[in-house]
Amino acid sequence: MKNTPIDSEVVNRKIKESNIKEVGKASIREIKKLIDQIEAETGEKFIRMEMGIPGLPPNQFGVQAQIDSLQKGVAAIYPDIQGISVLKQEISLFVKNFLNIDVDPEGCLPTVGSMQGSFAAFLLLSRIYDQRNTTLFIDPGFPVHKMQHRVLGLKYETFDVYNYRGEALREKLESYFSQGHIHSVIYSNPNNPSWICFTENELKIIGELATKYDIVVMEDLAYFGMDFRKDYSHPGEPPYQPSVANYTDNYILFISSSKAFSYAGERIGMLVVSDVLFNRKFEDLLNFYVSDGFGYSMVFGTIYPLSSGTSHSAQYGLYGILSAANQGKFNFIDDVKIYGEKAKVMKRLFLENGFKIVYDKDENDPIADGFYFTFSYPGMDGVELLGKLVYYGLSAISLAITGSERIEGIRACTSLVKEDQFGDLAYRLRLFNEHHGSK
Ligand SMILES: Cc1ncc(COP(=O)(O)O)c(C=O)c1O
Repeated sequence: MKNTPIDSEVVNRKIKESNIKEVGKASIREIKKLIDQIEAETGEKFIRMEMGIPGLPPNQFGVQAQIDSLQKGVAAIYPDIQGISVLKQEISLFVKNFLNIDVDPEGCLPTVGSMQGSFAAFLLLSRIYDQRNTTLFIDPGFPVHKMQHRVLGLKYETFDVYNYRGEALREKLESYFSQGHIHSVIYSNPNNPSWICFTENELKIIGELATKYDIVVMEDLAYFGMDFRKDYSHPGEPPYQPSVANYTDNYILFISSSKAFSYAGERIGMLVVSDVLFNRKFEDLLNFYVSDGFGYSMVFGTIYPLSSGTSHSAQYGLYGILSAANQGKFNFIDDVKIYGEKAKVMKRLFLENGFKIVYDKDENDPIADGFYFTFSYPGMDGVELLGKLVYYGLSAISLAITGSERIEGIRACTSLVKEDQFGDLAYRLRLFNEHHGSK
């Protein structure tokens, strides 16, 4: 082992003590724990790129509205399961202002993080048709969604979209949809982990096929508006955050407040169900629910038994955030642009030192700079690369756990990296390249 920025004796010992067989195959939380311990013993700070947690202070409109509501006593009162009325109205206005879509407040549901929204949706969608039992993941994707499928005992299939961008997506999707076993399809846009964003053309393909085969599209907008190549920040004015909702009536949107509003701690998100789907009846639901209505079964048959609604004060917090955004008092995109600015510098440093960006294009355009990016190093797979980077004080996760077929790839998250660490990042990448460049 060459002379590395982090003492290799400590790294080896901590890996051994952690019982992790291969660092490159460890989960995000295992890597976090290992790096915490190496940092504590060596006193060296890592460039922490493993966890997708927001690195900004919480939204103040939210905090204030939440404090006010607590002082008024909402903590003592059960909130309505379908959400408090003022918030439902505000979500409906928000999707009109920033997506340019019309959704009745009835279908705008607060959930305990977007995480609960997806759990509820997976549960309900798996029961709308007796004859269809599978969700399709357009990957790479957020590993916890697959974990939710596993704990629910639900079937899913997946493909890596890397080779199916543009028109090629049509045939690929049709090859699944036409078999008749798929009830729904899910993807995130912008995408965690790769930060690819579907083009309007691709969203149109997804929407058209969803209508043709009567499949529900779950569009995960966890990084709402954060494709910084366009300015989606002005309420009621184009351009709008692109969405499949413009191309089909069969949709559910998951809108997280964790990243776009830096509100992860309060665990509140939005589940937005199209009017058509909300009011639709599926006879097979009667096997599990008292009603065949999709919206009714979502609220009173699914969210009710999961958590009986969402924290009362957090709903007021989200209401405070959304009403400020809707009135143009709070530009939520300006607050998070810093992630894109950091990604731009970090990607340059990686490229200058022999690394490559793995998912690098949206059809013909270079991908945006944002919360995540993916990288690789010639001659190594992601597992080997990640295992070596630890000795250089760099931590991230392998794409192997995201449904990606790019086994050479690593996901880097920009949020926790501080700008004053760029010098260290450059030095460590340069040293890594010097040590491995001739490989
Ligand atoms: C793609 C994606 N979906 C959903 C979530 C979860 O969001 P929330 O914090 O609102 O539960 C995340 C969080 O990292 C995410 O990256």
